[in-house]
Amino acid sequence: MRQDDEERARALAGQMTLEEKIGMIHGAELFKTAGVKRLGIPPLAMSDGPMGVRREFEPDAWRATGRNDDFVTYLPCNSAVAATWNRDLAERTGEALGEEARGRGKDVILGPGVNIKRSPLCGRNFEYFSEDPYLTSELACRYIKGIQKWDVAACVKHFAANNQETDRLWVEAEVPDEALEEIYFPAFKAAVQQGGAYAVMGAYNLLKGVHCCQNSWLLDDILRKEWGFDGVVISDWGGVHDTDKAALCGLDIEMSVTGNFDEYYLASPLKQKVEQGAISEAEIDRKVFRILMLMMKLHMLGGERKSGSFNTTGHRETALETARESVVLLKNEGERLPLRTDGLKRLLVVGENADCMHADGGGSAELRALYELTPLMALKMLLGGNVQADYAPGYCRDPEGGQTEENWQAASLENGGGHTQKRREEGEDALSRTRERLCREAAALASGYDDVIFIGGLNHKQDSEGNDREDMRLPYGQDRLIGMLLDANPNTVIAFVGGSPVEMGAWINRARAVVWSWYAGMEGARALAETLLGLVNPSGKLPETFYKKHTDCSAHALGEFGKKTKIRYSEGLFVGYRYNDTFGIKPQFCFGHGLSYTEFAYGPASVTEDEEGVALICRITNTGKREGKEVAQVYGAWENPPKGRPARELKGFEKVELKPGETKTVRIALSGIQKGMRLQAGSSLADIRCETEVL
Ligand code: BGC
Repeated sequence: MRQDDEERARALAGQMTLEEKIGMIHGAELFKTAGVKRLGIPPLAMSDGPMGVRREFEPDAWRATGRNDDFVTYLPCNSAVAATWNRDLAERTGEALGEEARGRGKDVILGPGVNIKRSPLCGRNFEYFSEDPYLTSELACRYIKGIQKWDVAACVKHFAANNQETDRLWVEAEVPDEALEEIYFPAFKAAVQQGGAYAVMGAYNLLKGVHCCQNSWLLDDILRKEWGFDGVVISDWGGVHDTDKAALCGLDIEMSVTGNFDEYYLASPLKQKVEQGAISEAEIDRKVFRILMLMMKLHMLGGERKSGSFNTTGHRETALETARESVVLLKNEGERLPLRTDGLKRLLVVGENADCMHADGGGSAELRALYELTPLMALKMLLGGNVQADYAPGYCRDPEGGQTEENWQAASLENGGGHTQKRREEGEDALSRTRERLCREAAALASGYDDVIFIGGLNHKQDSEGNDREDMRLPYGQDRLIGMLLDANPNTVIAFVGGSPVEMGAWINRARAVVWSWYAGMEGARALAETLLGLVNPSGKLPETFYKKHTDCSAHALGEFGKKTKIRYSEGLFVGYRYNDTFGIKPQFCFGHGLSYTEFAYGPASVTEDEEGVALICRITNTGKREGKEVAQVYGAWENPPKGRPARELKGFEKVELKPGETKTVRIALSGIQKGMRLQAGSSLADIRCETEVL
């Protein structure tokens, strides 16, 4: 079969003119290559990713078409998918994305993003899964399989070490080899080898002195030769800077952000070099061959191709189910949550994020959601007319900042393409006065209500492509507002919507209940409201460390981040919890943390090895009164870590659903365990319930 395809691809390529071949290896529109009509080869149509299929633009300018036929299902972002720790939901979310992409006539979806969250300040963290390579790999592989079921290619991005937005076009990541090997590469390797991803997107930054999209070491030696990847490599938009380098390496398609398609490095400049004999046509043939093979995998050159569909009720259901399992209950002192609704007459909801929609922001991840519930609306929908739910904004955002201009992507080639957002200091100006008034109004109301829910956090002015945060502090004076709400009503529930952690030190000891939710899709707010009201028992776990402040994160404590031409990753393997755990730096909430409205007890653990591999076996019982789901996590731990190695690393996890009183024997498949390790199983990194030796 493959041989037939290969012969067919060669035969097709053999009939093409140089011009036709060149047309296939660079953008002929902002999201399309040229096809070869006379040979029945269609263009390759691409779209972002990853929270749903992006709006349609004009072919040659970042102007929306202006039609209303591109609204789609808004799916939970990858951080939310990761917080579910549920492989099945990752696959279902991917499947919904793939079916929608196909329904919108796309061939390639530009996602998922599998970069490791090295710092909590990176503006694109919401597009990525986790700080842990194993968790990222496990979920991304299933997500990719889901997408590709629909005859659409997943394009895994951004390869590699693309961990900050500041100066992203020119910044060089200086990463020790063992950190590449163990932290930054594994998710990409798993994506192509186990997930079977058909496409990979090169990153903007440089690695080993060369831009990733034209880096032969990265794309040929590592990706193609070492990992055996035979799919298509697409550049990030504007990530190519040199004709020779791009032509002579494993890159296949150059995409960019400007409308002068003929001037792209792999367009006329390449054609001329081939005509002059400076570059061999065989280099182009290799790329064209891989693109044709991709088209055959997607049944674009004949055969039955799935047609997909978008905005189905099934996709909305998937979005809701994933969102439900992504909500993380961070703190719940004295069972403050769920809210008691019997007898509830009046509820005060405070915070701009209660009344905010997020789908149309964040950079290339933006989309037009068919609808998006807000938390305030979802609470009202669920509570009904007998409860008076009042709202006070409490704060407001800055009018400027974020990727709001439709044309920002075209402009992104200038100034290195990204920056660190400067925090606005409050003063005597009109905006500060407005905030002060909103804050006082909300606090004055709060004492008059039995129940007050604050819903704040971040939005896509902070969590956005092309932009890193300066620190982890809450914007818009929210710390002060939360403090005043807790003064007025100590029972105030604190809930957040956001894509990356925020500092909580100013008030955390006084807050009884804290809930975290993400940009969790069109139904994300319903999931949050259901959790607050106890209709859903939370089962999300943090896929990343929630530091007390960003300087507790190794990228800042040991390494470098932000505005520098070369960023040294001096922390090496000590990324995320690997650093805090080994060196005893206490985070606000640790990796894997997340509470439930019920309790789980763990029995003793044992290790088995059978034809399916090595696994930890453990009995888990729901000892509480509610049905719930537990994510059992297994960490490989060293009593005395070998020098330079983290004390503990995630080696396996399984999510299990249990009725009250029910016990299940859980088998947790393990990966990468070593002799001399102890295995610790538990509810989070800091809540280990049982231990056993490696066989
Ligand atoms: C982003 C990519 C995206 C591409 C196309 C770039 O700015 O870095 O993630 O897929 O644009 O929109």
